[in-house]
Amino acid sequence: MICIIFFIEERRCRCLASDSSCWPNLSAWQSFNESVDGRLISAKPSAAVCNEPAYDVDACAVARIQWNDGIWRSNQPGALQNTNWENSSCSIMLNSTTCNQGSVPVFGVNAIFPEHVQKTVLFAVKNNLRLVIKSTGHDYLGRSTAAGSLLLWLHNMKNMTLIPRYSSCGHADIMNAARISAGVQWDEVYRWLSTLNLVAIGGAAGSVGVAGGYLQGGGHSPLSRWKGMAADQVLEYEVITADGRHQTASACQNSDLFWALNGGGGGTYAVVLSVVLKTFPSPTIAAATYDLVAPTEAYYKTLIEDCMRLISQVANAGWSGYFTMVHTKISGLFHVPNGNVREVQDTLSQFAARHPNISFDNTRFYSFPSFYDFFALMLRPSNPTGYNVLLGSRLIPEAVVHSSPERVADVFLQTKGESVNGSSLLGHIVAGGQVSNTSNTNNSINPAWRTALLHMVYAQGWLDITPDYIQEYLIKEVTRHTQILNQLLPDSTPSCYTNEADPNELNWQEAFYGSREMYNRLKAVKNQVDPDGLLVCKNCVGSDDWTEDLNCPKVLNPTTTTPHC
Ligand SMILES: Cc1cc2nc3c(=O)[nH]c(=O)nc-3n(C[C@H](O)[C@H](O)[C@H](O)COP(=O)(O)OP(=O)(O)OC[C@H]3O[C@@H](n4cnc5c(N)ncnc54)[C@H](O)[C@@H]3O)c2cc1C
Ligand SMILES: *[C@@H]1O[C@H](CO)[C@@H](O)[C@H](O)[C@H]1NC(C)=O
Ligand SMILES: *[C@@H]1O[C@H](CO)[C@@H](O)[C@H](O)[C@H]1NC(C)=O
Ligand SMILES: *[C@@H]1O[C@H](CO)[C@@H](O)[C@H](O)[C@H]1NC(C)=O
Ligand SMILES: *[C@@H]1O[C@H](CO)[C@@H](O)[C@H](O)[C@H]1NC(C)=O
Ligand SMILES: *[C@@H]1O[C@H](CO)[C@@H](O)[C@H](O)[C@H]1NC(C)=O
Ligand SMILES: *[C@@H]1O[C@H](CO)[C@@H](O)[C@H](O)[C@H]1NC(C)=O
Ligand SMILES: *[C@@H]1O[C@H](CO)[C@@H](O)[C@H](O)[C@H]1NC(C)=O
Repeated sequence: MICIIFFIEERRCRCLASDSSCWPNLSAWQSFNESVDGRLISAKPSAAVCNEPAYDVDACAVARIQWNDGIWRSNQPGALQNTNWENSSCSIMLNSTTCNQGSVPVFGVNAIFPEHVQKTVLFAVKNNLRLVIKSTGHDYLGRSTAAGSLLLWLHNMKNMTLIPRYSSCGHADIMNAARISAGVQWDEVYRWLSTLNLVAIGGAAGSVGVAGGYLQGGGHSPLSRWKGMAADQVLEYEVITADGRHQTASACQNSDLFWALNGGGGGTYAVVLSVVLKTFPSPTIAAATYDLVAPTEAYYKTLIEDCMRLISQVANAGWSGYFTMVHTKISGLFHVPNGNVREVQDTLSQFAARHPNISFDNTRFYSFPSFYDFFALMLRPSNPTGYNVLLGSRLIPEAVVHSSPERVADVFLQTKGESVNGSSLLGHIVAGGQVSNTSNTNNSINPAWRTALLHMVYAQGWLDITPDYIQEYLIKEVTRHTQILNQLLPDSTPSCYTNEADPNELNWQEAFYGSREMYNRLKAVKNQVDPDGLLVCKNCVGSDDWTEDLNCPKVLNPTTTTPHC
């Protein structure tokens, strides 16, 4: 009789850099470094150069100037765009003498080839390390960093290739698809495609990554009402899975993984090396900016209400845009792909005529020959980073905006920001239109996107010197303000955009992914492609099997040896 003995592997807590008893020793790191072509790097917080022990007068001066530049941040392995997630005592304001590493990984791999990613994944598995994937560090929930982890840094995977005729998987001859590697940022794609008079459906900020968290969380765009969400444009992904295999995920290969990667959130199913996207001939853009101040709070409500009526009306005419509500001011941008600037002007003049109290002097009109011209002038300069900030958000149904502008105004008035408190309410007119057209899509984007018109974000910032107890108060205020917006959701099931959401959201599984059913379906894919949970991140699918710090599985399996005869 043959007796096979299975060693069921123990599910252990991750081995962190702070635990020298299990952290790989120097020679293990050295041979790993050789295996990744010497691309092992160390990482430090973005303000480390302004503090002891790494104080450097010149580097600190540069850091102070570049602090709010998203590209400068993304060029550093340790920096995050929203500095609260670095969670370090380093500061450009404080010149701390106890500058610590915070939540910034100690070591990272500056990957450029698929083999670097493969070797890093296998090294992390072998040594039970906490692995984090980062492309640009824009994540608003801190999902691209973790204290004591090993960083897989994809920023320098910068390939872009045009595929003049893409056909696979029953897609007959799609013209001008683009293969984009994991480190490429939207600014680079927009600039490159503009030389071909093409455009892709991407982010408003040029420094956001293409293939990482943005796309995998769904991706809203200045052009999403025109052509659908960014994840609706994906034809295939090239990935490294947690077992180290180099694979393709598309509608006909690993189709469950493909479904999950398109909307179900980054950082948890596999490491994406590149993505193939549809592109489109660039539209022209008609645009207008405005800046309206109401004389009183009561009048502000009337103004918001009329703006909601206006948005209902112009959404049907293909307008998109962004707006901010702070104090008694509403300011923003409307833009219309292939729109007529005269029509934009006429519509806003009629609106102005109904509000003799409000100055429209600051309203400006623009006509751009291409999307890239619009992006470069209007969007690129308006997305600074480098703040301590938390967001909470809700997707507001199109039907509610159409039918109840008064109720919407009432709720927005309760949630608006106050500049003295560092808060603002941001409206994104990026849903509806082709986002609601699902005739050709099969992916895991939160279904609430398909019936929404507005994506509303409450944003709260603070300073490094803000006392802890005030920070704690502000964090609770984010959750409270976000919940006020629930009044606008018909069945009061909160739904929001996973990439611009409150990390303290209560029922995040439903709110981020649409429903328990959706969440469970995503989790089934997760468990299939990453059964041992190599990839974990906060509020990512599967993270509820881990402790709060995501370093220990909730159920610790005892080491068992099961004789199986
Ligand atoms: C200034 C600013 C502007 C923004 N504008 C928009 C916008 O217009 N539209 C919009 O929809 N969103 C926008 N966002 C939100 C944005 O979508 C998220 O921050 C998103 O997480 C960014 O993805 P990233 O890969 O660039 O960031 P990262 O922080 O590097 O990664 C985010 C998540 O994805 C994972 N990840 C990264 N790369 C990979 C990969 N290759 N494979 C697998 N997992 C990966 C990370 O582990 C992490 O969990 C904006 C954010 C900021 C800060
Ligand atoms: C930030 O660091 C402090 C210790 O300095 C820690 O108590 C806290 O949990 C950390 N926060 C996050 C979000 O990691
Ligand atoms: C920061 O502290 C160092 C010494 O700890 C000092 O040399 C330097 O001038 C300080 N920088 C600023 C900007 O205060
Ligand atoms: C970039 O793409 C080209 C063409 O597909 C390929 O030959 C090259 O090896 C790629 N470079 C990297 C670094 O992946
Ligand atoms: C959508 O894709 C999923 C995942 O592969 C598949 O199970 C499902 O059958 C597909 N649905 C449709 C309508 O094609
Ligand atoms: C103008 O503003 C005042 C408040 O300052 C308000 O009472 C009045 O109704 C407004 N006029 C119009 C035409 O809306
Ligand atoms: C903003 O500050 C004002 C005055 O300090 C305060 O009354 C108000 O409650 C604050 N709002 C929020 C959202 O914290
Ligand atoms: C929905 O999308 C399909 C394919 O993307 C397109 O052919 C169709 O015209 C769209 N429908 C509407 C109503 O816009």
